Amino acid sequence: MRLGVNIDHVATVREARKTYEPSPVFAALLAQRAGADQITLHLREDRRHIQDRDLELIKELVILPVNLEMAPVEEMKRIALRVRPDRITLVPEKREEITTEGGLDVVSMREYLKDFLKEFKESGIEVSLFIEADRKQIEASKEVGADAIEIHTGRYANLWNEHRFAEAKEELERIREGAYYAKDLGLRVYAGHGLTYQNVRDILELEDCIEELNIGHSVVANAVILGMEQAVAKMLRILRRGE
Ligand code: PXP
Repeated sequence: MRLGVNIDHVATVREARKTYEPSPVFAALLAQRAGADQITLHLREDRRHIQDRDLELIKELVILPVNLEMAPVEEMKRIALRVRPDRITLVPEKREEITTEGGLDVVSMREYLKDFLKEFKESGIEVSLFIEADRKQIEASKEVGADAIEIHTGRYANLWNEHRFAEAKEELERIREGAYYAKDLGLRVYAGHGLTYQNVRDILELEDCIEELNIGHSVVANAVILGMEQAVAKMLRILRRGE
Protein backbone atom coordinates (compact mmCIF):
# COMPACT_ATOMS: atom_id res chain seq x y z
CA MET A 1 0.00 0.00 0.00
CA ARG A 2 1.17 3.52 -0.74
CA LEU A 3 1.65 5.91 2.17
CA GLY A 4 0.41 9.49 2.09
CA VAL A 5 1.90 11.40 5.01
CA ASN A 6 -0.35 14.10 6.41
CA ILE A 7 1.79 16.90 7.87
CA ASP A 8 -1.03 19.08 9.33
CA HIS A 9 -0.03 18.64 12.95
CA VAL A 10 3.48 19.88 12.40
CA ALA A 11 1.70 23.14 11.58
CA THR A 12 -0.53 22.71 14.66
CA VAL A 13 2.57 22.91 16.87
CA ARG A 14 3.82 25.98 14.98
CA GLU A 15 0.45 27.72 15.22
CA ALA A 16 0.37 27.11 19.00
CA ARG A 17 2.95 29.93 19.10
CA LYS A 18 2.28 31.63 15.74
CA THR A 19 5.97 31.37 15.01
CA TYR A 20 8.12 29.92 12.21
CA GLU A 21 8.91 26.46 13.60
CA PRO A 22 8.32 23.60 13.11
CA SER A 23 7.79 24.04 9.39
CA PRO A 24 5.34 21.67 7.66
CA VAL A 25 7.22 22.39 4.43
CA PHE A 26 10.44 21.05 5.94
CA ALA A 27 8.49 18.09 7.35
CA ALA A 28 7.07 17.33 3.90
CA LEU A 29 10.56 17.33 2.37
CA LEU A 30 11.82 14.99 5.10
CA ALA A 31 8.82 12.67 4.61
CA GLN A 32 9.72 12.62 0.91
CA ARG A 33 13.34 11.80 1.77
CA ALA A 34 12.15 8.96 4.01
CA GLY A 35 10.25 7.37 1.11
CA ALA A 36 6.65 8.56 1.53
CA ASP A 37 4.56 8.22 -1.63
CA GLN A 38 2.50 11.37 -1.21
CA ILE A 39 2.14 14.48 0.91
CA THR A 40 -1.35 15.12 2.26
CA LEU A 41 -2.47 18.35 3.89
CA HIS A 42 -5.75 19.89 4.96
CA LEU A 43 -6.26 23.60 4.42
CA ARG A 44 -9.09 24.25 6.87
CA GLU A 45 -11.42 27.21 6.55
CA ASP A 46 -10.33 28.44 10.01
CA ARG A 47 -6.60 28.01 9.10
CA ARG A 48 -5.96 26.40 12.47
CA HIS A 49 -2.86 24.59 11.20
CA ILE A 50 -1.86 24.68 7.51
CA GLN A 51 -1.70 28.18 6.00
CA ASP A 52 -2.11 29.11 2.33
CA ARG A 53 1.64 29.79 2.03
CA ASP A 54 2.44 26.26 3.29
CA LEU A 55 0.32 24.77 0.53
CA GLU A 56 1.95 26.95 -2.12
CA LEU A 57 5.49 26.12 -0.96
CA ILE A 58 4.76 22.40 -0.65
CA LYS A 59 3.32 22.31 -4.14
CA GLU A 60 6.38 24.16 -5.44
CA LEU A 61 9.12 22.25 -3.60
CA VAL A 62 7.83 18.71 -3.11
CA ILE A 63 8.23 16.34 -6.03
CA LEU A 64 5.75 13.77 -4.71
CA PRO A 65 2.04 14.00 -5.52
CA VAL A 66 0.25 16.50 -3.28
CA ASN A 67 -3.19 15.60 -1.94
CA LEU A 68 -5.17 18.61 -0.69
CA GLU A 69 -7.97 17.84 1.76
CA MET A 70 -10.58 20.57 1.74
CA ALA A 71 -14.20 21.40 2.48
CA PRO A 72 -16.44 21.57 -0.62
CA VAL A 73 -16.75 25.37 -0.53
CA GLU A 74 -16.07 28.04 -3.16
CA GLU A 75 -13.10 29.62 -1.36
CA MET A 76 -11.23 26.29 -1.33
CA LYS A 77 -12.20 25.55 -4.92
CA ARG A 78 -10.59 28.83 -6.04
CA ILE A 79 -7.41 28.06 -4.10
CA ALA A 80 -7.22 24.48 -5.41
CA LEU A 81 -7.71 25.51 -9.03
CA ARG A 82 -4.94 28.10 -8.64
CA VAL A 83 -2.39 25.93 -6.77
CA ARG A 84 -3.27 22.75 -8.68
CA PRO A 85 -2.52 19.89 -6.28
CA ASP A 86 -2.42 16.44 -7.89
CA ARG A 87 -5.56 15.45 -6.00
CA ILE A 88 -8.25 17.06 -3.90
CA THR A 89 -10.00 15.08 -1.19
CA LEU A 90 -13.31 16.57 -0.14
CA VAL A 91 -14.00 16.26 3.57
CA PRO A 92 -16.81 17.50 5.79
CA GLU A 93 -15.69 20.35 8.00
CA LYS A 94 -17.21 21.72 11.16
CA ARG A 95 -15.45 24.57 12.90
CA GLU A 96 -15.90 23.20 16.41
CA GLU A 97 -14.62 19.68 15.67
CA ILE A 98 -11.19 18.50 16.85
CA THR A 99 -10.63 16.45 13.71
CA THR A 100 -12.67 15.33 10.70
CA GLU A 101 -15.57 13.48 12.30
CA GLY A 102 -17.42 11.11 9.99
CA GLY A 103 -17.41 11.05 6.22
CA LEU A 104 -18.90 13.42 3.69
CA ASP A 105 -22.65 12.95 3.16
CA VAL A 106 -22.43 12.67 -0.62
CA VAL A 107 -26.03 11.39 -0.86
CA SER A 108 -27.54 14.59 0.48
CA MET A 109 -25.05 16.83 -1.39
CA ARG A 110 -25.42 15.01 -4.71
CA GLU A 111 -26.60 17.92 -6.87
CA TYR A 112 -24.28 20.44 -5.21
CA LEU A 113 -21.25 18.17 -5.69
CA LYS A 114 -22.01 17.42 -9.34
CA ASP A 115 -21.82 21.13 -10.00
CA PHE A 116 -18.90 21.74 -7.61
CA LEU A 117 -16.77 19.10 -9.33
CA LYS A 118 -17.29 20.28 -12.92
CA GLU A 119 -14.21 22.52 -13.05
CA PHE A 120 -12.07 19.88 -11.39
CA LYS A 121 -13.07 17.34 -14.02
CA GLU A 122 -11.92 19.78 -16.70
CA SER A 123 -8.69 20.63 -14.84
CA GLY A 124 -7.30 17.09 -14.66
CA ILE A 125 -7.01 17.22 -10.85
CA GLU A 126 -8.02 13.86 -9.37
CA VAL A 127 -11.09 14.03 -7.11
CA SER A 128 -11.46 11.81 -4.06
CA LEU A 129 -14.31 11.89 -1.52
CA PHE A 130 -13.76 11.02 2.14
CA ILE A 131 -16.73 8.81 3.06
CA GLU A 132 -17.91 6.00 5.29
CA ALA A 133 -17.88 2.50 3.77
CA ASP A 134 -21.58 2.73 2.97
CA ARG A 135 -23.05 1.48 -0.33
CA LYS A 136 -25.30 4.51 -0.83
CA GLN A 137 -22.42 6.94 -0.25
CA ILE A 138 -20.21 4.93 -2.61
CA GLU A 139 -22.85 4.87 -5.36
CA ALA A 140 -23.45 8.61 -4.94
CA SER A 141 -19.67 9.23 -5.15
CA LYS A 142 -19.58 7.46 -8.50
CA GLU A 143 -22.64 9.36 -9.67
CA VAL A 144 -21.23 12.83 -8.87
CA GLY A 145 -18.10 12.06 -10.87
CA ALA A 146 -15.45 11.25 -8.25
CA ASP A 147 -12.36 9.37 -9.42
CA ALA A 148 -11.74 7.83 -6.01
CA ILE A 149 -13.00 7.46 -2.47
CA GLU A 150 -11.09 7.50 0.79
CA ILE A 151 -12.76 5.29 3.37
CA HIS A 152 -12.90 6.72 6.90
CA THR A 153 -11.10 4.30 9.23
CA GLY A 154 -11.73 6.37 12.38
CA ARG A 155 -14.34 4.04 13.87
CA TYR A 156 -12.16 0.98 13.23
CA ALA A 157 -9.16 2.73 14.83
CA ASN A 158 -11.12 3.81 17.92
CA LEU A 159 -12.51 0.30 18.46
CA TRP A 160 -9.05 -1.20 18.09
CA ASN A 161 -7.51 1.34 20.46
CA GLU A 162 -10.16 0.49 23.08
CA HIS A 163 -9.27 -3.21 22.61
CA ARG A 164 -12.77 -3.97 21.32
CA PHE A 165 -11.17 -6.31 18.81
CA ALA A 166 -14.30 -8.26 17.79
CA GLU A 167 -16.10 -5.03 16.89
CA ALA A 168 -12.96 -3.69 15.17
CA LYS A 169 -12.92 -6.84 13.04
CA GLU A 170 -16.57 -6.33 12.09
CA GLU A 171 -15.78 -2.74 11.12
CA LEU A 172 -12.86 -3.96 9.05
CA GLU A 173 -15.24 -6.32 7.22
CA ARG A 174 -17.55 -3.39 6.50
CA ILE A 175 -14.57 -1.45 5.13
CA ARG A 176 -13.54 -4.45 3.00
CA GLU A 177 -17.05 -4.82 1.52
CA GLY A 178 -17.21 -1.12 0.76
CA ALA A 179 -13.76 -1.12 -0.79
CA TYR A 180 -14.62 -4.02 -3.13
CA TYR A 181 -17.95 -2.47 -4.03
CA ALA A 182 -16.27 0.83 -4.92
CA LYS A 183 -13.54 -0.91 -6.88
CA ASP A 184 -16.17 -2.84 -8.89
CA LEU A 185 -17.82 0.50 -9.74
CA GLY A 186 -14.49 1.67 -11.16
CA LEU A 187 -13.45 3.95 -8.28
CA ARG A 188 -9.93 3.97 -6.85
CA VAL A 189 -9.98 3.23 -3.13
CA TYR A 190 -7.88 4.81 -0.39
CA ALA A 191 -8.34 4.86 3.39
CA GLY A 192 -7.24 6.75 6.45
CA HIS A 193 -7.87 8.37 9.82
CA GLY A 194 -6.66 7.35 13.25
CA LEU A 195 -4.14 4.78 12.02
CA THR A 196 -1.14 3.96 14.20
CA TYR A 197 1.81 1.55 14.22
CA GLN A 198 -0.42 -0.79 16.26
CA ASN A 199 -3.80 -0.72 14.53
CA VAL A 200 -2.57 -0.41 10.93
CA ARG A 201 -1.34 -4.00 10.74
CA ASP A 202 -4.82 -5.51 10.35
CA ILE A 203 -5.62 -2.99 7.58
CA LEU A 204 -2.86 -4.58 5.51
CA GLU A 205 -5.24 -7.52 4.95
CA LEU A 206 -7.12 -5.19 2.62
CA GLU A 207 -4.21 -4.52 0.32
CA ASP A 208 -5.93 -6.11 -2.66
CA CYS A 209 -8.71 -3.51 -2.57
CA ILE A 210 -7.15 -0.46 -0.87
CA GLU A 211 -4.27 1.21 -2.73
CA GLU A 212 -3.20 3.86 -0.27
CA LEU A 213 -3.37 4.97 3.36
CA ASN A 214 -3.17 8.57 4.56
CA ILE A 215 -1.66 8.82 8.02
CA GLY A 216 -0.96 12.01 9.93
CA HIS A 217 -1.36 12.36 13.68
CA SER A 218 0.47 9.19 14.65
CA VAL A 219 3.42 9.91 12.34
CA VAL A 220 3.79 13.45 13.72
CA ALA A 221 3.35 12.18 17.30
CA ASN A 222 6.14 9.66 16.81
CA ALA A 223 8.35 12.24 15.10
CA VAL A 224 8.12 14.37 18.26
CA ILE A 225 8.93 11.45 20.56
CA LEU A 226 11.67 9.89 18.43
CA GLY A 227 13.36 13.27 17.99
CA MET A 228 13.18 14.33 21.66
CA GLU A 229 16.54 12.98 22.82
CA GLN A 230 18.41 14.59 19.92
CA ALA A 231 16.62 17.91 20.42
CA VAL A 232 17.41 18.04 24.17
CA ALA A 233 21.01 16.93 23.60
CA LYS A 234 21.53 19.75 21.09
CA MET A 235 20.16 22.41 23.46
CA LEU A 236 22.46 21.07 26.20
CA ARG A 237 25.48 21.29 23.88
CA ILE A 238 24.61 24.94 23.19
CA LEU A 239 24.13 25.73 26.90
CA ARG A 240 27.49 24.11 27.67
CA ARG A 241 29.12 26.09 24.87
CA GLY A 242 29.87 22.90 22.95
CA GLU A 243 28.19 24.28 19.81
N1 PXP B 1 -7.55 11.23 5.64
C1 PXP B 1 -8.37 12.29 5.76
C2 PXP B 1 -9.37 12.56 4.69
C3 PXP B 1 -8.27 13.15 6.88
O1 PXP B 1 -9.12 14.21 6.99
C4 PXP B 1 -7.28 12.91 7.83
C5 PXP B 1 -7.11 13.85 8.98
O2 PXP B 1 -6.76 15.12 8.52
C6 PXP B 1 -6.42 11.80 7.64
C7 PXP B 1 -6.60 10.97 6.54
C8 PXP B 1 -5.32 11.48 8.60
O3 PXP B 1 -5.85 11.15 9.85
P1 PXP B 1 -4.86 11.00 11.10
O4 PXP B 1 -4.25 12.35 11.34
O5 PXP B 1 -5.77 10.57 12.19
O6 PXP B 1 -3.83 9.99 10.72
